[in-house]
Amino acid sequence: MPSVAIVYFSAQGHTHQLAEAVAEGAKGIAGTTVELIRLVGTDIAEGRWKNDAAVAKLAAADAIVFGTPTYMGGYSAQMKAFIDGCAGVWFQQGWKDKIAAAFTHSMGLSGDKLNTLQSLLVNAMQHGMVWVGLGLLAEGTGPEHANRIGAYLGAMAQTDGNQTEVNPGDRKTCVHLGKRVAEAAARWKR
Ligand SMILES: Cc1cc2nc3c(=O)[nH]c(=O)nc-3n(C[C@H](O)[C@H](O)[C@H](O)COP(=O)(O)O)c2cc1C
Repeated sequence: MPSVAIVYFSAQGHTHQLAEAVAEGAKGIAGTTVELIRLVGTDIAEGRWKNDAAVAKLAAADAIVFGTPTYMGGYSAQMKAFIDGCAGVWFQQGWKDKIAAAFTHSMGLSGDKLNTLQSLLVNAMQHGMVWVGLGLLAEGTGPEHANRIGAYLGAMAQTDGNQTEVNPGDRKTCVHLGKRVAEAAARWKR
């Protein structure tokens, strides 16, 4: 059965909640194993990210889901350091043919999150991965509605500055993404 790794950065915990939702969705597919890998600033020295244990976990996964807050219209510096730190993996095409997907969180309803997902897509394509989009129509635009932001490249979530919990609809969107990734990885493995 497939293994799914979720690699993400979260400063204030919202993206972390979404990563847990992706994990919940993936675990909903019987037999799927899930690794949550939270990027931490202490793994970055002089701008270079290094964590051999995390790299080994990613090498063992059938699918990698990338998660990051949107900062200044793109992925966070911590995600960028991780991506650059995996350039050696790229050189070996170590992630080739793994399933890839992504989610992002920001404070603005748009917040230019599309650019974050597109940048993560480009990284996945450089690695020769197989991208899985959201595949879910918007239920509506309320906080309780799945895919309320109407994104298709991946999962987008938004939380107001004073909210500690992510919106239930965004949580649902990420559960859906995790399930879809695990299903795709199982099919791809067969
Ligand atoms: C440096 C910085 C840049 C940010 N840039 C954006 C932005 O471009 N668009 C937006 O909507 N929110 C922006 N925000 C808000 C973050 O997206 C929000 O704090 C983050 O998603 C919270 O996620 P977390 O709780 O997982 O850390 C920014 C926040 C910081 C600290």
